[in-house]
Amino acid sequence: MSAGSGPKDQYRSSFSSWDGRSSVRAKPRRILEELENGKVFFPPELVPVLYHPLVRDQEQEVINSLLLQRLHIYLDFTADLEQLLVAPVTQLISRRRSGFELPAVMLRDSYKICTDEAWHAQFSDDLQSQLISATRELPTTSGEPYFLSRLRTLKAGLDPALRPLADLFFTVVSETLISSILSGIPKDQRVCTAVRETIADHAEDEGRHHAFFAQFFEHAWPQLTSCERDLIGTLLPEFVVAFLRPDLAATSGMLGPARLDPDSVMGVIEETYPVARIQADMRAAAASTLRLFDRNGVLESNRVADSFFRSGLLV
Ligand SMILES: [Fe+2]
Ligand SMILES: [Fe+2]
Repeated sequence: MSAGSGPKDQYRSSFSSWDGRSSVRAKPRRILEELENGKVFFPPELVPVLYHPLVRDQEQEVINSLLLQRLHIYLDFTADLEQLLVAPVTQLISRRRSGFELPAVMLRDSYKICTDEAWHAQFSDDLQSQLISATRELPTTSGEPYFLSRLRTLKAGLDPALRPLADLFFTVVSETLISSILSGIPKDQRVCTAVRETIADHAEDEGRHHAFFAQFFEHAWPQLTSCERDLIGTLLPEFVVAFLRPDLAATSGMLGPARLDPDSVMGVIEETYPVARIQADMRAAAASTLRLFDRNGVLESNRVADSFFRSGLLV
């Protein structure tokens, strides 16, 4: 990395009231008291396979099981993201091992994020245990989420010395995208209270993390060499897609309760997720992260801009 010219001393902390507001310090453990009649485990609109003709006419009990399975996928994804990616990256930032010069307040805030993320993983796992006890239904899929295997593949193609940068910038991408994914569920009164409260706790913390990582990007990007900017720049759209693309293996796996044969499962997946729909959904979900990149001059390199167009994130 070059001795950069970034705005090293400019940082607006969102963590001044962390002790009184963060979920790990100020919120109770969320208890799934009972399965509330008429409530759903997950908003059906966020599970597009439910609207496929082979699925939508199934018994309500099957639909409920599918929503439960979708919730398990989300909770597994969350625990993996926090424990295996964001917590290790924020540990490195907090101990001045990110490779970037950052204001001291940012380093202290990264400890708080690390603590938050450990709690998010723990409460996601805790909710999964409570769901299994209450419903007596086990998660149908237990493979790793798509983003993890994709990130591993992308890192395998890099010089080992550059792999930590991939983890860092993948984390920036995930932390600036995740808050929009979480935004709707807390207000959705159809969803079980414990699920809603857990996601509301998470969403509030992630609002602060988003502000941190947007500024982390503003500090880090100018400190990269032009070679590194070119390389990481072409990887950024890959990271966005890895994070936002529907996890088709997990979605196929969760269709177990629908008792479809393998060809029908494949048909449901293919017909639910045409490429144009996947790309349009990703563009919408990535809008604020793409603005962050644009504001910081990421798209000024033709090579980098081309990679965003090829990924379908820019049209
Ligand atoms: Fe989190
Ligand atoms: Fe976070």
